[in-house]
Amino acid sequence: MKKSTEVITRTIEDANMQQYDEAVSNFQWETVEKGFSWYGQEKCNIVYEAIDRKCEEGHAGEIALYFCDGTRDEQYTYEKLQKLSCRFARGLQNLNVEKGDRVFIFLPRTPEYYVALLGAIRIGAIGGPLFEAFMEKAVKDRLEDSDAKVVVTTKELLSRIPLHELPELKHVILVGADEADPGKRQVTYQEIMRQDDSPFVELVSKDDGMMIHYTSGSTGKPKGVLLSHYAMVHMYLSGKYAYDLRPDDIYWCVADPGWITGTSAGMWAPWLNSTPVVMRGGRFNPEEWYATIQKYKVTVWFSAPTAFRMLMASGAEISKSYDLSSLRHILSAGEPLNPEIIKWGVDTFDIPIYDNWWMTETGSTIVANFPALPIKLGSMGKPLPGIHVDIVDHIGQPMEPNELGNLAIKPKWPGMMRMIWNNPKKYNDYFLNGWYISGDSAYKDEDGYFWFEGRIDDVINTMGERVGPFEVESKLVEHPAVAEAGVIGVPDPIRGEVVKAYITLRQGFKESDELKEDIMNFIREKLAAHARPRIIEVRDKLPKTRSGKIMRRVLKARELNMPTGDVSTIDD
Ligand code: WTA
Repeated sequence: MKKSTEVITRTIEDANMQQYDEAVSNFQWETVEKGFSWYGQEKCNIVYEAIDRKCEEGHAGEIALYFCDGTRDEQYTYEKLQKLSCRFARGLQNLNVEKGDRVFIFLPRTPEYYVALLGAIRIGAIGGPLFEAFMEKAVKDRLEDSDAKVVVTTKELLSRIPLHELPELKHVILVGADEADPGKRQVTYQEIMRQDDSPFVELVSKDDGMMIHYTSGSTGKPKGVLLSHYAMVHMYLSGKYAYDLRPDDIYWCVADPGWITGTSAGMWAPWLNSTPVVMRGGRFNPEEWYATIQKYKVTVWFSAPTAFRMLMASGAEISKSYDLSSLRHILSAGEPLNPEIIKWGVDTFDIPIYDNWWMTETGSTIVANFPALPIKLGSMGKPLPGIHVDIVDHIGQPMEPNELGNLAIKPKWPGMMRMIWNNPKKYNDYFLNGWYISGDSAYKDEDGYFWFEGRIDDVINTMGERVGPFEVESKLVEHPAVAEAGVIGVPDPIRGEVVKAYITLRQGFKESDELKEDIMNFIREKLAAHARPRIIEVRDKLPKTRSGKIMRRVLKARELNMPTGDVSTIDD
């Protein structure tokens, strides 16, 4: 992204962090820990801190969650969430679910999603959030790799869970179903909820697993990123400093809980800061989105650049017909936030949009344009206090300001992943010379602001969602017409990047628009809608190494009219 010298300054009178440098130099995680009830003790539970404690401290009747989706319109107090999740937790115990077992949530964006996740984590089980749009292959990979014991889902989504291939999956909890088939390991949500709702919580070690979010890399299947209960310290601080959340805010994070933003920034950060959350079901729709801000008088709104670009494209007229004046500021993460979007934000809402950078693996925000700091348009901002971020070269040596290199973080910070499930090698691959290497290239300017350049590996970022080319390639070659496939991301004005597939065809198949359409739908139906190639190009041959690996780098260079670099290993 182009560096811009333009600076937007905004002062918040009672900002949390007026003096960034001072905040950083005096910072100690221990000071933050002191705010938690478990300070000085071995055991804790994030659900207790986020929900139960609010009840015990006199906020039981305050709204924690507002939900609407066009058919339902509901409010949940802290007490109600506590009771519901206690019921669910006891229901899980009745199924013999124990501490450390993986309980996956495969539901549409509804309050039951949170109840199930809170309930599982309440008893020390590991919550596995899944995205509703995942299709059979994506669901199976995740449930299989994690040896999930329970999945919570709906009848509609059930067909995407290949039970016969998942022997470890002992129970399928069906939300919204009147009956369940025990022969198919099913039990209804109502049955699970037929329990005592008195408060209880299992305390676990700070380092015990809390959530497992699967995410994509450039090779292999999706990786199970395990976060611990201790991540709450980080999520709390991101909420306080980077999102500037306060108890009198109404906060809406649009991200689905199937992605890290939807849990870490969507539920934990606000609840740990006693901030009520809005959850909106259903799909993207400009009118409904603006109406949601108006309806709840949302004060802090967290979304992503693709959504902003889609709103921008829907025109200024629509936004003008809603009262959006409740907004105090807007947050963005997941993909580069172009200066044009920030300018649109100022024009449309009369307030800035603050970018923040992080990853599933980092657990929470790492670099941010804090609302209490001047922002440089196009920059991701500065590190969260307590987290040492730098730019390092290929051997892990810190670089000079303005030099492009690897965005790296010094381990360990509280939100940092504890393992890649079942894959210590993948975990170790992240580290170099004592640094966590993010896979993003960036530089730091002389004022300490970080600027994003791109991914170093082949991971695709479409609509702010990570797509692993390997997963798409593996699925593509299962289509009867596809012999080989190479998948890359190509720039797109709205979605950041879109997935493009280069394929060769099997004998007997001919290139046609229908065939391409069929292949696109195949990915949509088997893997996930967002992973579907929007462009397919048929070739006679794909560039490969002598060992037969398709060279995405060469495909990408050709696509972008860039030099192909070292092709000495290319076959032919
Ligand atoms: C990208 C999402 C530019 C980046 C929270 C990172 C960003 C990947 C930004 C992680 C940002 C995230 N500017 N790029 N502010 N935030 N990214 O795991 O490439 O879904 O490595 O976590 O998104 O995606 P993930």
